[in-house]
Amino acid sequence: MTNLLFATNNKHKLHEVRAIMGHEFNILSLKDVNLDIDIPETRETIEGNAVQKARFIYEMTGKNCFADDTGLEIDALEGRPGVYSARYAGENCSFDDNIDKILLELSGKENRKACFRCVICLILDGNEYLFEGRIDGVITLERRGKDGFGYDPVFLPDGYRQTFAEMPTYLKNGISHRGRAVDQMAKELKGKQVNR
Ligand code: IMP
Repeated sequence: MTNLLFATNNKHKLHEVRAIMGHEFNILSLKDVNLDIDIPETRETIEGNAVQKARFIYEMTGKNCFADDTGLEIDALEGRPGVYSARYAGENCSFDDNIDKILLELSGKENRKACFRCVICLILDGNEYLFEGRIDGVITLERRGKDGFGYDPVFLPDGYRQTFAEMPTYLKNGISHRGRAVDQMAKELKGKQVNR
């Protein structure tokens, strides 16, 4: 089985990626390799942050690894929160604070189109690969659903009647930004028959 370290401290992402990658891959968490650290993400693009996070962990551990960075881009807010999605409402803010902020900024606006963009940077033996997944949708008027994380309760993907927080995880993973990026990474890994 292929071992691959996921450079994240986000347990929701870990859970999703493990489910998407299936049994052929053993996705290790930072905890699994006894690393308890904050990973810097100070770049100004989603791609830049994904590369920064993956390089940081690769340089620290020497292990093949990957990192993802995700942004919610809202049309009427000129693409915000984008790369600032995690701390949109300020340092140490909660998922709820971020949702409150975008709902307030969108109040009275007709155009509620948005997309999630996820970039994964995979590092294998020092070589870097980038994968991108995107899902389009709209921001709902209020929260719906209890599952998922982050902005899931207010993101309604195009063509669906359930927000990401209302749908079962397998359905979110099947269509989501992260699901699409992870699928591409899995294809690349299978093609390389990475085995270590
Ligand atoms: P990160 O910088 O990639 O960790 O993600 C930035 C922020 O985007 C997270 O803190 C979440 O609030 C949000 N986010 C990332 N992925 C998802 C998702 O799959 N659903 C909803 N929100 C997400």
